[in-house]
Amino acid sequence: MAGILKNTNKNERKRIAVFVSGNGSNLQAILDYSLKNDINGDVVYVLSNNPDAYALIRAKNANVKTFCPDLKKYASRQSYDMEILKAVKSERIDLICLAGYMLLLSPDFINEYQNKIINIHPSLLPSFKGMHGIKDAFDYGVKVTGVTVHFVDNELDHGPIILQEAVRIDENENLEQLEKKIHEVEHRIYPLAVKYFCKDELKIIGRKVIIKERS
Ligand code: GRF
Repeated sequence: MAGILKNTNKNERKRIAVFVSGNGSNLQAILDYSLKNDINGDVVYVLSNNPDAYALIRAKNANVKTFCPDLKKYASRQSYDMEILKAVKSERIDLICLAGYMLLLSPDFINEYQNKIINIHPSLLPSFKGMHGIKDAFDYGVKVTGVTVHFVDNELDHGPIILQEAVRIDENENLEQLEKKIHEVEHRIYPLAVKYFCKDELKIIGRKVIIKERS
């Protein structure tokens, strides 16, 4: 993975899809930030695999189109992903933000949207990959954990890192308090990463991501 990112709508406002499965607080943070700041993009599509996700209510409140295909109606994960791929293509989506999306995307999907899918993970990658990044770091007893926003590649929680911020774990803190601190950081840095992408500020060189505005 290398080179300057080629967005489909160069210099035009980017059309953003957010993939969710649950609460959607990161979706909300991106929506709120994009209303108050010029990010050169708009959240136009929210996809959920879970019909009960509160994120879908957030999307509807923001008048964003939603899609919630029922996994059980598809013969395979591959056919489910191909249906989603068809949908995001027909919506002319430039950027896909995974925000608590609990399904792994198939390699064919990721290859089609290479360098155009980003994810937020609640630890300092490569430490504490997987579903329980906050709890795993807390249980391990590390003194510092954090948040990572990264491009998605074919390995779990692995692609080039866009932004990372450390969060200290205080000795008297409980898991709930740590979760709150992590989410505050998430809600601050995910919208920033989205802005950098939409403004074509990101350049991937191997595993490194250069943010042009800041370099
Ligand atoms: C966040 O902690 C995110 O880092 C992880 O899943 C959680 C989603 O939370 N990938 P929300 O649905 O955005 O509130």
